[in-house]
Amino acid sequence: MDDLDLSADLTPPLRRRLRAARRVVAFTGAGVSQESGLATFRGGREALWQRARPEELATPEAFVRQPRQVWQWYADRHRTAAAAAPNPAHHALVRFAGLFPSFLLVTQNVDGLHQRAGSRDVLELHGTLRAARCHACGRRMEMHEALRRSPDEPPACACGGLFRPAVVWFGEALPAAVLERAMAAAARADLLLAVGTSASVFPAAGLIELAHRGGAAVIEVNPRPTAFSALADLRITAPAGVGLPALEEEVRRCRRAPS
Ligand code: OAD
Repeated sequence: MDDLDLSADLTPPLRRRLRAARRVVAFTGAGVSQESGLATFRGGREALWQRARPEELATPEAFVRQPRQVWQWYADRHRTAAAAAPNPAHHALVRFAGLFPSFLLVTQNVDGLHQRAGSRDVLELHGTLRAARCHACGRRMEMHEALRRSPDEPPACACGGLFRPAVVWFGEALPAAVLERAMAAAARADLLLAVGTSASVFPAAGLIELAHRGGAAVIEVNPRPTAFSALADLRITAPAGVGLPALEEEVRRCRRAPS
């Protein structure tokens, strides 16, 4: 599937809402990086949580119990992400920012591909793989520097603690200021795009319902249904690298059409 025409899928009311949209939030997940060759967490044999158990790699307890294994798993993901390139979905989201007066990109991804594509002001709800921080004192360091110092085990901090990836693990709170900004934007949005996320991890996934309850039109871009598909005003059942450029084309077409 290379090209997708959404004209037939858009009802006149949704077309009007797209044309009038002023405050837009894009909420992305691992599926947006799938076409860059990065594995998603769920679904399919290659999915990260099919091959490993989150409680053994993505919790503070796991890090205390087996810091080497956790460090090496994230080091590997960091290398894979660094070697990957942004795909047409990331690039389309950069252009979306120019289409609306207010556009906020909220991601659960830690791979940094939105920023490398050129998106600015990206809210990273689950932190980033591109930095390490001390598990004890919070001091930060670039991940490539941490890996240069110590590729196979977490480097020690001057305080005596260990550096870990600056991601959010299960059982940890999301960065409060980031979550608050994302929630405020979702509550005020008139359009929310949910792209490449199974919307199964909270509180992040709650942004979709928050936007819907606040009156936003919800458009989901995902080849598979999710728990939130039922409340979507439009489901684009295509890979994000195809679905987002097609949506962009429709937004531009709505704008050109006489009102
Ligand atoms: P998931 O792996 O749970 O979901 C990925 C979604 O992307 C699925 O719904 C797929 O159908 C969809 N998908 C796959 N390929 C796609 C493509 N080319 N285009 C569009 N969609 C595609 O990933 P997330 O929803 O991001 O958290 O997972 C949420 C959180 O769970 C992650 O941030 C991570 C994980 O555990 C932590 O590590 C705390």
